Amino acid sequence: MYRLIYKSRSKTPADWGLVNSIIGSSQEGNSELDVSGVLLATKSYFLQVLEGSFEKVNELYYTIVKDPRHDRVQLISFTCAEERIFRSWTMHGIGVFNFNRELAERLRQTYGEEGGDVRLPTEEWQALALIADIRRSES
Ligand SMILES: Cc1cc2nc3c(=O)[nH]c(=O)nc-3n(C[C@H](O)[C@H](O)[C@H](O)COP(=O)(O)O)c2cc1C
Repeated sequence: MYRLIYKSRSKTPADWGLVNSIIGSSQEGNSELDVSGVLLATKSYFLQVLEGSFEKVNELYYTIVKDPRHDRVQLISFTCAEERIFRSWTMHGIGVFNFNRELAERLRQTYGEEGGDVRLPTEEWQALALIADIRRSES
């Protein structure tokens, strides 16, 4: 199993409309490819984790990179992993722009700030720690 993480810049300010349209078109394709993962969106940036076979994740990544809805794609990591973290999600969208003030402030203090939102990390361990923090606060 392989896990790929990248960060990119949204060409237009991200909102639920944009995130839901990406997630909507991802779910069918990802389930066919047996890819799971999560997509975080602040107003200006995306951070996505893709999990699956080396070939499928590699192929999907190059499709996503070409998508005109984002640019400045930065590959954070593409590594072999023992097991999936996001097994139950073909693609789960998280609107960081929608967090309550208390949670947004706590995350900004831990991960830093970028354009008024929490900074989406470009280090693998920090990216996974941020997602784990968000999942804990969601449950
Ligand atoms: C930030 C972002 C994340 C995306 N994630 C996925 C994804 O996980 N799976 C997927 O099939 N498409 C994803 N897409 C959409 C693809 O780029 C592409 O539009 C979609 O696969 C349809 O491609 P096609 O028109 O060549 O069939 C994403 C797009 C963006 C902008």
